Amino acid sequence: MFNKRLKLYLLSKEKSMKIKILVVVITIILAILGVGVLIMVNASNNKNNSETIKLNAPKLDSKTSIEQAIKKRRSTREYKDTPLTIQEVSQLLWAAQGITDAEDLRSAPSAGALYPLEIYLVAGKINGLPAAIYKYNPEKHLIKKIIEGDKREELCKVALEQECIDKAPASIIICANYKRTTKKYGDRGEKYAQMEVGAVAENIYLQATSLNLGTVFVGAFDDNGVKKVIDAPKNEEPLCIMPIGKK
Ligand SMILES: Cc1cc2nc3c(=O)[nH]c(=O)nc-3n(C[C@H](O)[C@H](O)[C@H](O)COP(=O)(O)O)c2cc1C
Repeated sequence: MFNKRLKLYLLSKEKSMKIKILVVVITIILAILGVGVLIMVNASNNKNNSETIKLNAPKLDSKTSIEQAIKKRRSTREYKDTPLTIQEVSQLLWAAQGITDAEDLRSAPSAGALYPLEIYLVAGKINGLPAAIYKYNPEKHLIKKIIEGDKREELCKVALEQECIDKAPASIIICANYKRTTKKYGDRGEKYAQMEVGAVAENIYLQATSLNLGTVFVGAFDDNGVKKVIDAPKNEEPLCIMPIGKK
């Protein structure tokens, strides 16, 4: 009789112990999940990657002929301390990679129309646009905020301290996603993407000249440093920085 009672007592103790362990395990799992969600929310807030700014349609006419723009184009490394306007930025981004055709073809040629280039805007002093790093979406002609804050000084540091980057109100960075072209053209796809940067940069030079703005093709920089500053994905390589400012 006594043995039976003891057995029952031990069994119920074992059961309650199991329940306690289960509760502790569930609590730990929920706590880990909660911390994970908090970290994700925090990271997405820091990046503020939900903010997009629709740009005005570009102007398709100007007083500067294409011949005058070619003649007047010069690399400019000193700028007035005057902010740029969003309209100027819109025009420059459109000249770089904007859609110019009903079939989504763009302002600059691209091998196989695969468009491996991505355009970033490092905005410092632009009227009506908070200082931040933005990525250009050609199809929708909008920019999407990637990182808050004025990153010109950091960018200047990783570009051999070239002062034009720090002094310019904004810079455009051209990156290449090589996979888009190498998947069709093999190793040669990398060269194609690099060749395309030349065409895009010249468009930016000529558009800047027409807007009476100055710019320069900066190719001397630390690749990984630039990637860090703009938080570029692993598959994007920076190939050119173009600071832009009033002449
Ligand atoms: C691939 C490439 C890389 C360049 N890198 C730099 C650079 O890092 N810093 C700079 O001040 N200029 C740079 N330049 C600009 C040249 O110095 C400039 O184009 C050259 O002096 C000719 O002057 P122009 O552009 O006014 O005709 C680069 C140009 C090219 C095409």
